[in-house]
Amino acid sequence: MIILAIETSCDETSVAIVSNNKILSNIVHSQILKHQPYGGVVPEIAAREHTANISSVLQAAITAACINYDDIDYIAYTAKPGLINCLLVGKTIAETISLFLNKPLLPVNHLQGHIYAGIINQEWQFPVLGLIVSGGHTQLVLLKEHLKMEVIGTTEDDAAGECFDKVARMLGLKYPGGPEISKYAKTGKKTYNLPLPKDDSSLNFSFSGLKSACANIIEKEINNLNINDFSASLETTIVDILIKKSILALEKTQPKTFILSGGVSANNNLRNHFLKLKEKYSHINFIVPELEYCTDNAAMIGILAYYMLIN
Ligand code: KG4
Ligand code: ZN
Repeated sequence: MIILAIETSCDETSVAIVSNNKILSNIVHSQILKHQPYGGVVPEIAAREHTANISSVLQAAITAACINYDDIDYIAYTAKPGLINCLLVGKTIAETISLFLNKPLLPVNHLQGHIYAGIINQEWQFPVLGLIVSGGHTQLVLLKEHLKMEVIGTTEDDAAGECFDKVARMLGLKYPGGPEISKYAKTGKKTYNLPLPKDDSSLNFSFSGLKSACANIIEKEINNLNINDFSASLETTIVDILIKKSILALEKTQPKTFILSGGVSANNNLRNHFLKLKEKYSHINFIVPELEYCTDNAAMIGILAYYMLIN
C-alpha cells in the first residue's frame, strides 16, 4: 500500500511517500527564513510559500521514493488543526491528485499525526500515553487502542512552544525561539527565579504567567540580563513542569508506552529528562521520535493514514 502524504498546516511544506509502515521519502521545505523578519509566522506569507513550493516538494518526494504517480494507492493530507489558508493549499493539491489518479483521499488530524511520529520505526504496546508539545499545543493524550485518542490534559492558555517563541522575541532572538533559547541555555545556569507554572495535581498546563514573569524580568534588567542564564532558567522551568505533569499522568494512567512528540520534543534537555524517567519506570517503553519527525513533517501524516486504513 503506497500513501502520498501532504502537510501544510503551518510553516513547513512537506510531502512524504509511505509504503505500509515504512517511510520511503519525507521532504520538508521550511519557510523559517521568510518569517524571521516578522518574529513569527505570517499566515498570508505561509500560504503563498506553500503555493510556490508544493510542486517541487511533491516531485522531490516522488523521486526520492523511486516511485511513479501510478504506484500511489491513497492520498492523505493534514485537514486540521492549522492555519486555514495553509491547510487549503494542501487540501487543494491532495484533492487534485486524488481526482487525477482516481484514488481515495484521507483527511488526517495533525495532532494525532504528531503522536504517530512515535510509531515510525518503533513498536507500541497499549495503553499509549502521549505528551504533545508544539508551537500551538501542549496536551497529554491517552490511546487505549489505535486512533482512539483521548485528551487527558491540556494548556489553559499558551502552549510551551509559544512561550519559548514569545520570550525569545522579547529577548530580540530569531524565530523560532525554542532552538534559540536552547542554544543559549547550553552555557547558562538556572540563576533566575521563575515560577513553576500551574504546579498543581491536575494534568493541565499554563504558560502565560511564566511568559509575563519573563517579561517583567526582561524589562527590569534590560541592560544587564545574562541571556545564557536567563535562557537556561526558562528552559529548565518549562522542562521541569512538563516532566512533573508527565509523572502525574504516568501514575494515573499506568501506560505501557509513553511518547514525547511535537516540535518542542526536539529540545535536548527535554528529551534527556524524558528518557531518564526510564530509570524509575523500567517497565514502560519511552519513545522520542527521531529529530526529523519531531517538527512538522508529512511522514507522520502518512504513517497515521496507514494505521487509519488498516484499522
Ligand atoms: O510541531 P511544530 O513544528 O509546529 C506546530 O505544530 O506548532 O512545533 C514548533 C515549535 C516552535 O514553538 C519551536 O520554537 C519549537 O517547536 N521548537 C523547540 C525546539 N525546536 C523547535 N523548542 C525548544 N527546543 C527546541 N530545540
Ligand atoms: Zn505540529
